Amino acid sequence: MIQAIKGTRDILPEEAETWQRHERIARAVFARYGYREIRTPVFEETQLFARGIGSETDIVSKEMYTFEDRDGGSLTLRPEATAGIVRAVIEHNLAQSDPMLKLYAIGPMFRREQPQKGRQRQFHQINVEAFGMSRPSIDVEIVELALTLLAECGVGGCELLLNSVGDAHCRPAYLETLRGALAKEKARLCADCQRRADVNPLRVLDCKVPADQPLIATLPKITDHLCAECRDHFAEVRRQLDLLGIAYRVEPRLVRGLDYYVRTTFEVTSSALGAQNSVLGGGRYDGLVHELGGPELCGIGFAVGMERLALIPAAEGESAQTRRCEVFLVPLAPGALDRALLAQRGLRAAGRSALLDHEGRGLKSQMKKADKLGARFVAILGEDEQARGVWTVRNMASSAQEEVPEARLAEYFRERLDG
Ligand code: HAM
Repeated sequence: MIQAIKGTRDILPEEAETWQRHERIARAVFARYGYREIRTPVFEETQLFARGIGSETDIVSKEMYTFEDRDGGSLTLRPEATAGIVRAVIEHNLAQSDPMLKLYAIGPMFRREQPQKGRQRQFHQINVEAFGMSRPSIDVEIVELALTLLAECGVGGCELLLNSVGDAHCRPAYLETLRGALAKEKARLCADCQRRADVNPLRVLDCKVPADQPLIATLPKITDHLCAECRDHFAEVRRQLDLLGIAYRVEPRLVRGLDYYVRTTFEVTSSALGAQNSVLGGGRYDGLVHELGGPELCGIGFAVGMERLALIPAAEGESAQTRRCEVFLVPLAPGALDRALLAQRGLRAAGRSALLDHEGRGLKSQMKKADKLGARFVAILGEDEQARGVWTVRNMASSAQEEVPEARLAEYFRERLDG
């Protein structure tokens, strides 16, 4: 039997309803904050990610699905959305025509990681990016947007972790300090970290190997090595978060797994998740647009992992079983099927969700089916009703029944279902 590939999952109809709910909430929240949707391809030229994310990151060096196209070009399934969105912004000159460029994207990403709960090889993100705004207030708005989205999706037990990773002025000196500190100690670290200590020492800070953690905790902190501009930016971000009453914890080791970040980085964890407890991550990437061949245009954004969102139990009062139909039509008399088909078409045209049994089963079995589908009303057409041009309509909650003229069906349900 052919099975789904390791690290991929089918999202079955029950679960897909939760996903749709999250997407619906996201779109509504983003509209309030002035974001518009962008949809970019799932594969791009490999060099976009190598240059954008950084060739020494785990994502680029170990996890990308890269393949040779038939014409010899190198293509990669996107491991994240930001690089592709930036490419599109440059390619279509979006910043020039849009007075406030705020974009969101929802879709699958691909990373060849070791699968576990909340970690897939094909996973999905809700992604948010804002361009051309350099002041701390947009950092704060983005963080506030992220927390609002999680709150509206019913995610509890959230903690906001915040850091500044400096910029092109102060980071090089910090990296030298870090390299110096690592030079003495690196023999005690894992093989990956020994290599990172030379080529990209910042990456040592997000090493997850338990044995390395005590040593990593003693390394110099980037927050102690920020230049005046980065320090002021970070202080203003924190001041405005305080102003809005948003709690956070400064985590100087939060450098995140992508090289494009400068200044503000953040993550939100949820105690409702297990080991993979980061539900969302993001930060500022002021040099990325230029690095990828575009103008000097700053950017900031975040991505929520949809698998992780779906792992968190729905908020109370949320029923897992959603209604499949409002009206279930039961044609019983010979020839009643034609009337039912017409009625079903009319009800659907009037915006109602209507279903009927296509197998011509008896009343008892059809009533059972209507119940399972969560129907609010059942409309029955027997011989007697058919002769008089009416339907017997049963309210499934109260069990009350009444006759409704066929021509009035749509109006009858509108009064009862929209009221
Ligand atoms: P990231 O931290 O790599 O950031 O991913 C963001 C979120 O995607 C994570 O917090 C997690 O919820 C989810 N995620 C990542 N990898 C997996 C996986 N293998 N399986 C399931 N979920 C996963 C980025 O991707 C940045 N592009 C975010 C960003 C946007 N920064 C600025 N703009």
